[in-house]
Amino acid sequence: MTTRAIIAGCGGYLPERVVTNADLGRECGIETSDSWIVERTGIRQRHIAAVGETASSMGAAAAHQAMERAGIGGGEIDLVIVATATPDSAFPSTAARIQAAIGATRGAAFDIAAACTGFVYALGVADAMIRAGSARCALVIGTETYSRIVDWTDRGTCVLFGDGAGAVVLTAGEGRGDSGDRGILSTHLHADGRHADILHIEGGAGSTGGPGLLRMAGKEVFRHAVAKLAAVVDEALAANGLGHADVRWLIPHQANLRIIEAMGKKLGLPAERVVVTVDRHANTSAASIPLALADAVGRGLITKGDLIVFEAIGGGLTWGAALARF
Ligand code: ACO
Repeated sequence: MTTRAIIAGCGGYLPERVVTNADLGRECGIETSDSWIVERTGIRQRHIAAVGETASSMGAAAAHQAMERAGIGGGEIDLVIVATATPDSAFPSTAARIQAAIGATRGAAFDIAAACTGFVYALGVADAMIRAGSARCALVIGTETYSRIVDWTDRGTCVLFGDGAGAVVLTAGEGRGDSGDRGILSTHLHADGRHADILHIEGGAGSTGGPGLLRMAGKEVFRHAVAKLAAVVDEALAANGLGHADVRWLIPHQANLRIIEAMGKKLGLPAERVVVTVDRHANTSAASIPLALADAVGRGLITKGDLIVFEAIGGGLTWGAALARF
């Protein structure tokens, strides 16, 4: 028998304020248009955090929903991992703040910095800790307030991002350990720091000084995205003796509809098997995958036993994929 990390529940939180592409021009004075944004990215609107809403308050809201759906109380959680590039503060970690908010006191709580790949990284670490027996019931959260770190004078980046949080509860379960079992089958994480400059935060809470704003060479990121994502998804499937035809759902990081559609095509999946939220949520970085999962589960799309591929690429560069049977 092998120990597996089973997805026992998922949840999401989106701030109340919705800003459409048209609002960006009207209210925020950005020289842009709905057609420019939709044609290049598929984004139609984004949610923006209210004053006082933080990565930890949104993450706690998503966590509460995931725990309720899993039927798990705070006392049972023995690991909290938060993926975020926009923590409330450098320390204490956003995970420690969320641990307190959900009434958990056992085990470890820490943050992971892997930008848009953060949720896949966090899933990988939680899965490894559960397999190793260091945790039995983990909360894995992605939560972001990019509206606070985008340069609102740079129309090439500020239109791309939104705020939100998503969470999953993972519980240890016993199984045969083959790919027919429910749970995380494997995770595949990569980084190549030589490309750090094409997507980074300039200064801020970091030690380099500067304004703390996001900088991106969009075309360069795009160039890396599809090749690296396709390779890591194939790596994940091959590691489990599975092929494209076994995939039921693709839940990709929601950065850009063109990248998402290209990945769906590579896998030979019909459009209805690719979960898309980028039109409504924009790019919520580490929160985008768990938010998309919660959205799809909430709509009754995903059922027990379905094979899901998660994939993401982001600052670092970091990229990765995870395979899970729901
Ligand atoms: N509205 C209107 N015009 C704009 C805007 C805007 N919001 N932003 C830029 N433009 C203009 C530029 O000024 C430029 O005008 P010019 O030709 O007169 O100089 C023109 O549009 C083209 O600009 P580019 O930056 O070359 O636009 P591009 O076609 O590369 O599209 C985009 C930009 C959408 C960011 C694209 O590069 C992309 O999708 N990159 C992928 C990266 C990505 O998705 N990043 C998300 C974060 S990273 C992640 O999550 C993985």
